[in-house]
Amino acid sequence: MWDALRTQYDKVKDRRFETLFGSQRAEEFRATLSTGDGDLLLDYSKTNIDFEGRALLVRLMEDAGVAARRDAMLSGETINETEGRAVLHTALRNLDGGPVEVGGTDVMPGVLETLGRMEGFAEAVRDGTFAGAGGAITDVINIGIGGSDLGPAMAVRALAPYHDGPRCHFVSNVDGADIAGVLRQCDAGTTLVIVASKTFTTIETMTNARTARAWMSDAVDDPAAQFAALSSSEEKTSDFGIPAERVFGFEDWVGGRYSIWGPIGLSLMIAIGPAAFRAFLRGGQAMDRHFATADWFENLPALMAMVGLWHNQVCGYPTRAVLPYDDRLARLPAYLQQLEMESNGKRVAMDGGALDVPSGPVVWGEPGTNGQHAFYQLIHQGTQVVPCEFLIAAEGHEPELRHQHELLIANCLAQSEALMKGRDLDEAREKIAGKFEGDELERQAAHRVFPGNRPSVTIAYPKLTPFMLGMIIALYEHRVFVEGAVLGINSYDQWGVELGKELATALGPIVSGEEAPDGKDGSTAGLVRFLQERATS
Ligand code: F6P
Repeated sequence: MWDALRTQYDKVKDRRFETLFGSQRAEEFRATLSTGDGDLLLDYSKTNIDFEGRALLVRLMEDAGVAARRDAMLSGETINETEGRAVLHTALRNLDGGPVEVGGTDVMPGVLETLGRMEGFAEAVRDGTFAGAGGAITDVINIGIGGSDLGPAMAVRALAPYHDGPRCHFVSNVDGADIAGVLRQCDAGTTLVIVASKTFTTIETMTNARTARAWMSDAVDDPAAQFAALSSSEEKTSDFGIPAERVFGFEDWVGGRYSIWGPIGLSLMIAIGPAAFRAFLRGGQAMDRHFATADWFENLPALMAMVGLWHNQVCGYPTRAVLPYDDRLARLPAYLQQLEMESNGKRVAMDGGALDVPSGPVVWGEPGTNGQHAFYQLIHQGTQVVPCEFLIAAEGHEPELRHQHELLIANCLAQSEALMKGRDLDEAREKIAGKFEGDELERQAAHRVFPGNRPSVTIAYPKLTPFMLGMIIALYEHRVFVEGAVLGINSYDQWGVELGKELATALGPIVSGEEAPDGKDGSTAGLVRFLQERATS
């Protein structure tokens, strides 16, 4: 099927997809998930995918057995084969969906029990029933990294208008600058520290957790009383001194980058309250139901995956820009970098054999309109094509600033239009005809040409509510699943992060001078020496 898709690409690659717009294209190359809590629209008409291309992409998914694999995931089969685990983050948002079995046991009673405990604790923190030595909790510090940081950090920012709990801070980096900056803003007597780590072994998180405990110990008699833990390891949280009543556990079938829906979302729940958190879960669940039942031609995650596979694996565009015209989604690109690249950045298929197509694009981005004044130059006129993904709400949370929101929408739509249409040499000449003439006109006009024919998709929604954020995140999760299933890779392991961790552990005593850099390559040994010689403390 890849060959058929490549042939299709060769056939259409010089065509300007703008010319495809007849009366129906916009309707035929978009899909909407309509719910009682708001509609989510995916417009992928500004791409070079036509009826033939889309039919081939659907066949690609069918040949790969995506439907059977989806059903296997949703029913708790061990689809994470290299780690021997089920993949069931969907169970965390299965609020009223019935039993989900792993190895013959229904996991839902445990999921709902933990959710209930989280809600009880979040309410107690919010209403002051749970307090610190100095009184009601004013600040929550979530210490975690990767999936134990990016999800809640992204969502707390995204849902700031719903935030009526204590202030939330996020510490992830082992660079002491991160935690020092946060601790300076907090009063230990009224701070709750949440140590978020699935494994409870991650060096950055455990180092920061110990620093926070030392800081707390200087100010309060019982620092452990102001700590909570989110982890799958009860033994390790207890060794750290956090009592079981403030440990919120989850099973190994929740991957780190898919964990915001459960205990890792505790800081978000404290910030926006349990009811809004449930709305977030319901948004995810609505997307799950849609993904499980909608025809591929209407199925938003499948369509997003088809567009992604077309642009990266077929057209060969190496990166994809995520451009939210929604400032509160500023952390979405970083969140998606982990979700997509840690999931699908693999070089071997499930059976250990080498992939015969690229595994996926580099994902990057920034909110609009900021990006327009930074890197859009390259997107419009650079030599490589960057497929863009725009996100835009019909309204913001600042009704008094409606005129600014209209400007935001106009900018978002203008960008996808400009990418598609471009500006040819004649138009460029015309623009400056009065200012230059002759050779100088030709030279100046060349700089003002936009090639156009650059693809983008737009995701549009009424407003960034908790429900809508849940739908959007689950949309991306399932898109990653479909792309991984088509490529035949395991999207749920991450062996690629291990080597660096091992070498960092080995380098620790060399950097601190306890061991000599014997056996290290010249570059690494030279860098160690340079940094040691210039450190004054
Ligand atoms: O970077 C590897 C990784 O294992 C991620 O997959 C994970 O989200 C992150 O580290 C944090 O892991 P943990 O929650 O176990 O501290």
